[in-house]
Amino acid sequence: MSNLAEQPLENEPAPERVVVEDTSQLAEIRPIPRVTIQAFCESEAVSRTLELASQDRRMAKAHVKVHTGGIPAAIEFYDSAPTPNLIIVESRLQGAELIEELSKLAEVCDAETKVVVVGTINDIVVYRDLIARGVSEYLVAPVTMADVMSTVSDIFVNPENGVLGRTIAFIGAKGGCGSSTICHNVAWAISSAYENDVVLADLDLAFGTANINLDQDPPQGIAEAVYSADRVDDILLDRLLAKCAEHLSLLAAPSTLDRTYDFEAKAFNQIMEVAQRGAPYVIVDVPQQWTGWTKEVLSFADTVVITACPELTNLRNTKNLIDKLGELRPNDPKPHLIMNQIGVPKRPEIGVADFVASLSVEPITTIPFEPALFGSAANNGQMISEVDPKNAISGSFNMIAQVLTGKAEISGEKKSSFNLRALLRKKK
Ligand SMILES: Nc1ncnc2c1ncn2[C@@H]1O[C@H](COP(=O)(O)OP(=O)(O)O)[C@@H](O)[C@H]1O
Ligand SMILES: [Mg+2]
Repeated sequence: MSNLAEQPLENEPAPERVVVEDTSQLAEIRPIPRVTIQAFCESEAVSRTLELASQDRRMAKAHVKVHTGGIPAAIEFYDSAPTPNLIIVESRLQGAELIEELSKLAEVCDAETKVVVVGTINDIVVYRDLIARGVSEYLVAPVTMADVMSTVSDIFVNPENGVLGRTIAFIGAKGGCGSSTICHNVAWAISSAYENDVVLADLDLAFGTANINLDQDPPQGIAEAVYSADRVDDILLDRLLAKCAEHLSLLAAPSTLDRTYDFEAKAFNQIMEVAQRGAPYVIVDVPQQWTGWTKEVLSFADTVVITACPELTNLRNTKNLIDKLGELRPNDPKPHLIMNQIGVPKRPEIGVADFVASLSVEPITTIPFEPALFGSAANNGQMISEVDPKNAISGSFNMIAQVLTGKAEISGEKKSSFNLRALLRKKK
């Protein structure tokens, strides 16, 4: 990797030119996972190298956009747009001026977004300062494709820098309470509103509805993955994914009864591990069952979301789930709760305040019973926000996506900012 620690010190600004590529250096680089990368360049040379890198087969799964305008353009852009997994900024600024611009950028970035700076000063002090401030890498122009791709690979593929993806598992407190519908709509919201890649895995092999809700009928999916679990790798998984939208891929359930679906407890672990290395979000629709493998999947997930309706059986089951998950995951936050189907006509309901009183968990949100809206979405194979984007329930799904990902609000308003402290902890 071309960083300053390995290069001679000199203060000459680098000339604007594309370096002749030694393509043999690319051979070592592993394919880049499903990440979004946006670059804001100042020089023709750096933008051309990034464009070329984006067309390399190793970057085929990444979504790369190259803009001009350097850090000021990035600051303006992210004032109203969601931030990607990685921002590459080129700047001719130095010292305090560069730091000043980067702090302004930090204010409009989500904390998880990584930043790589391409500068002109070949100086170890600058390098160390930027790394200490949380910049993932500092490259000196001119850069090669190999510099760029090995930097991206180091950030997202190198296990020393942590696992790329987070797994969010959804389970219902009772069959029919809307867990799958909410799971699919939240997966959609993360992938469309935040433009982050999501792999949605439907683990309800017999009766799964993600294929219907997302209007997909792929020949293969989660069943092929679980029946070859010992040899699941990124190549096999890629083959089994059905692309539903630019940033959303589905591991569909067969939803047939040709077989019975009894699995050993760890049957899905390898699949989830591989999926997590390939995309920033893995969303798992867990059927409402208590088996060795559903328990294992819920224990494995980074975040668990329970959907419940306001009645007694749901309350008992929610309490049991929260207690059991607390035992299984003593060092993790409590599961999130979503109250759904509030206000079914003539049905006696437990008020939300009473429902949560004995649970020590506050719901992220409550979703009303809206049979016309949910019915047309299900029958048309559409998401709620496609049927009625202005409906408050579409806003609720965006809000749930925001809470689960910890990202800033998308509303056209200025996003809640993070300071350079957040940048500080990026490089592990
Ligand atoms: N808030 C709601 N209002 C009306 N119908 C809903 C609501 N949430 C879910 N549904 C409907 O309830 C049914 C069961 O939902 P589903 O997501 O399959 O439940 P689960 O996965 O918990 O068994 C579906 O027909 C779905 O469209
Ligand atoms: Mg379901």
